Amino acid sequence: MCLLVVTVLFIVILPTSTLFTNNRTEHAIVIDSLDIAPVWAGHPVNFVLLTHLPYQFIAYYDATRQMTISQRNINERIWTINKLPIITGWDSHNYIAMAIDDDGYLHLSGNMHVVPLIYFRTAQPLNASTFVQLNYMIGTDENRTTYPIFMRGPGNEFIFTYRTGMSGNGNQIYNLYNLKTKIWKRLLDKPLTNGEGKRNAYFDGPIKGPDGYFHLVWVWRESPDASSNHDLSYARSKDLISWETSIGKSLILPITLETCEIIDPVPQKGGMINGNTKIGFDHQGRVTISYHKNDANNYTQPWTARLENGIWQKYQITNWPWHWDFSGGGTLTFAISLGRVTKENDGNLTQTFSHIKFGNGTWSINPENLNATGQLQRETIPPSLLKVEGTFPGLGVHILEDSGHNNITDTRYILRWETLSSNRDEPRPPPYPTPSMLRVYTIKIIYTDF
Ligand SMILES: *[C@@H]1O[C@H](CO)[C@@H](O)[C@H](O)[C@H]1NC(C)=O
Ligand SMILES: *[C@@H]1O[C@H](CO)[C@@H](O)[C@H](O)[C@H]1NC(C)=O
Ligand SMILES: *[C@@H]1O[C@H](CO)[C@@H](O)[C@H](O)[C@H]1NC(C)=O
Ligand SMILES: *[C@@H]1O[C@H](CO)[C@@H](O)[C@H](O)[C@H]1NC(C)=O
Ligand SMILES: *[C@@H]1O[C@H](CO)[C@@H](O)[C@H](O)[C@H]1NC(C)=O
Ligand SMILES: *[C@@H]1O[C@H](CO)[C@@H](O)[C@H](O)[C@H]1NC(C)=O
Ligand SMILES: *[C@@H]1O[C@H](CO)[C@@H](O)[C@H](O)[C@H]1NC(C)=O
Ligand SMILES: *[C@@H]1O[C@H](CO)[C@@H](O)[C@H](O)[C@H]1NC(C)=O
Repeated sequence: MCLLVVTVLFIVILPTSTLFTNNRTEHAIVIDSLDIAPVWAGHPVNFVLLTHLPYQFIAYYDATRQMTISQRNINERIWTINKLPIITGWDSHNYIAMAIDDDGYLHLSGNMHVVPLIYFRTAQPLNASTFVQLNYMIGTDENRTTYPIFMRGPGNEFIFTYRTGMSGNGNQIYNLYNLKTKIWKRLLDKPLTNGEGKRNAYFDGPIKGPDGYFHLVWVWRESPDASSNHDLSYARSKDLISWETSIGKSLILPITLETCEIIDPVPQKGGMINGNTKIGFDHQGRVTISYHKNDANNYTQPWTARLENGIWQKYQITNWPWHWDFSGGGTLTFAISLGRVTKENDGNLTQTFSHIKFGNGTWSINPENLNATGQLQRETIPPSLLKVEGTFPGLGVHILEDSGHNNITDTRYILRWETLSSNRDEPRPPPYPTPSMLRVYTIKIIYTDF
């Protein structure tokens, strides 16, 4: 009943008139590809690509929508396949989360939308054939779970966070893992935020910044209707336990709408949506929050708030003469997507964007006022991979980046598959497209200075 966008797809094909701010082009080329398995193409659910040398792990739903983990040695072209006893339905919330702890054990959670916790852990390090279904971490607040995320703490601790409850009425839970005893405990004895039975918070973060703080931003949502998002809110913490405002005033947990720090009091139906509020950091390491809201003409505009000497300054990034009219429940397709403000290796700021009418790409960002000043000649995905292969009407391409690491400079792995768009989490009548081939591609970026 809530909202989540499954595909993160930044595609960069520049119109010829585009301004660009440096004399370098970046082209993406395919240097290898390997089939994994045919996968369900009737609706999208997010997968995992996790490279952990010498292995590569892929978690996905197969052609019959069964949760499956494929593993290979990076130097081999054969997959070892493990099918887990989980079949997913039509809900695009049912994505898979998978991560590796410091002892090499894999942890997996997924196929959850207000249902009891689904949790697997391997019995051997770096061996996806040894997953054991535990479905238990602590034993309370595990009946109605959604949005599993594995993350790292201030000292690199292995942490799991999820929502308990439901859209419009939920709390965020944080659990901490003990590597020696293999036992989870609560990181926080209280929920971080409390919707007081009336609303819930949709987060981006916590993300650790160059200042050593974990930054957390959220919007409050009153109901399953996506237009009921409001009040862009913020908190930060050094240890994920004690939380404070941007000027260091400590916050009593759980944080409520009344006690939280509000960056921008965007009202309901104000053009702000959960899933599109992004934490970034500028060239001086200052925290930035990118989001969108409607302007005086009712056009939906991208904004960035930046914390400057304890004050949130807000900047409109560009001028788009178009209103995005969104409402209702279920998984929506985003007409506008914004990336994080990012400091490049050369010290310049960039931000990715995608707009249903005005294209997509990577902006060059003015460090003073955070305006979009032009676009980079940057291609991150080879254009050949963006062409739909299937013939069934409505198929689209999904590209997923690696959540792990590899050891070859300017080279990375991506996953690619095709599905129909989400259907607000409802079943579609047949016929369905034939399963799409899930593949891992090796991509190399070629730089040309001119
Ligand atoms: C880009 O190339 C033009 C023409 O060669 C040159 O005038 C300009 O200084 C270059 N800009 C940068 C940022 O190198
Ligand atoms: C950084 O941005 C400035 C101003 O837009 C531009 O002149 C310069 O070429 C950029 N640096 C690089 C390495 O692209
Ligand atoms: C990268 O890692 C793989 C697997 O561990 C290894 O076989 C390969 O030699 C490494 N390559 C480099 C360039 O270090
Ligand atoms: C994983 O465990 C299985 C069962 O114990 C074993 O047969 C297999 O060789 C192991 N694979 C790896 C990569 O260690
Ligand atoms: C499930 O809900 C019941 C009733 O609220 C509670 O007693 C129990 O601890 C919950 N179990 C889990 C695993 O969260
Ligand atoms: C903005 O446009 C939407 C959709 O057309 C409309 O429902 C809404 O009332 C408008 N809001 C304002 C403040 O004009
Ligand atoms: C860019 O920044 C300037 C100065 O802060 C501002 O006046 C202008 O409106 C901004 N441009 C856009 C498109 O928002
Ligand atoms: C990005 O823009 C290109 C055309 O410039 C278009 O073909 C593609 O569908 C767009 N991608 C997204 C995700 O909007």
